[in-house]
Amino acid sequence: MAAEKPLVAVTCTAPTNIAVIKYWGKRDEKLILPINSSLSVTLHQNQLKTTTTAAISRDFKEDRIWLNGKEEDVGHPRLQSCLREIRRLARKRRSGSEGDSVPLSYKVHIASVNDFPTAAGLASSAAGYACLVYTLAQLYGVESELSEVARQGSGSACRSMLGGFVQWLMGERPDGKDSIAQQVAPESHWPELRVLVLVVSAERKPVGSTAGMQTSVETSSLLKFRAESVVPGRMAEMAQCIKERDFEGFGQLTMKDSNQFHATCLDTFPPICYLNDTSRQIISLVHCFNAHYGKTKVAYTFDAGPNAVIFTLEDTMDEFVAVIKQIFPPEMNGDKFLKGLPVEPVELSEELKSALPMEPCPGGIRYIIATQVGPGPQVLQDPQQHLLGPDGLPQPAS
Ligand code: DP6
Repeated sequence: MAAEKPLVAVTCTAPTNIAVIKYWGKRDEKLILPINSSLSVTLHQNQLKTTTTAAISRDFKEDRIWLNGKEEDVGHPRLQSCLREIRRLARKRRSGSEGDSVPLSYKVHIASVNDFPTAAGLASSAAGYACLVYTLAQLYGVESELSEVARQGSGSACRSMLGGFVQWLMGERPDGKDSIAQQVAPESHWPELRVLVLVVSAERKPVGSTAGMQTSVETSSLLKFRAESVVPGRMAEMAQCIKERDFEGFGQLTMKDSNQFHATCLDTFPPICYLNDTSRQIISLVHCFNAHYGKTKVAYTFDAGPNAVIFTLEDTMDEFVAVIKQIFPPEMNGDKFLKGLPVEPVELSEELKSALPMEPCPGGIRYIIATQVGPGPQVLQDPQQHLLGPDGLPQPAS
């Protein structure tokens, strides 16, 4: 059998997610157990995704991994945790009988690509580890609680194992068995909700989230207060706003939680500043737009980087994009400025234009990705889409 079919491969895709109640701080660095629960929106894979192929063959000499075409160190501790956990679960499930399953003693080759800039604050590690864990689980036929495994790759990755609106319950057990992701509502729940990713800078972050949150836990008393006294109430309030599709409540809480997260970064010593001038201009623009209409029609949130993620409803998206273009006129490649869902041009009213708080800043925003809420990881059935060739090495992109 093995000689006729030397390589078994599986290819899957996984989404990114954007937290509306932020995770920041661990109580266990190795198991990646957080100091507070968090809640996120899974973004649609038509616009942002990671694709991963995992293959095994008796000819492979060692486990190997390629990220965006470049071979990386397979000995990375978080990668090793995920591989070890999946193999352990596969062994447990089989408990002796190999049956038709792929042999666990064979080495694995993994290739993964992102269709968005890595380390630009777009949760690439979340999609990456979610995709890795989901793909390995498909390959080895593991069906157990996978968010717990993805969590050990990157905390936010556990939320990318599900579509729609997802909460990561912090849990209380020292072994992390209750620190898992759960769906609050499916992706079909709020079809009018739209998401705009405003890419301000594609450069690498000055301080990565892992190191940043570690310093915050050590030095910020505001973070301790937030985790103990603020987040529990906000988790319940946010889940309620989502259930009721209450944009006003959802948007306000999203902005407040982003602001409090960045306040804890500033309360960290030495302080961490993820926002830049463009981020702060976007914040004023959103508040000004909402004040003009006398209600919350758009909301921002920022992760560990200067890029903004904007939530709005279908009926407001085109107009808000026109506002963005007015204040941040695209510097070059006008047609490439807008990616993702179609956005129609809108003529802004003179009243709105004169209400805007600042002069145009050309080039402040590099491009916009318009997207919406999406499903969890998917298996790709077409073998043409494998990222590894029959020799088990990365295929050049077709
Ligand atoms: C600001 O999940 O990247 O995006 O667990 O150390 O891998 P590690 O950190 P990571 O942190 C994400 C932080 C955040 C907020 C969030 O996604 O909840």
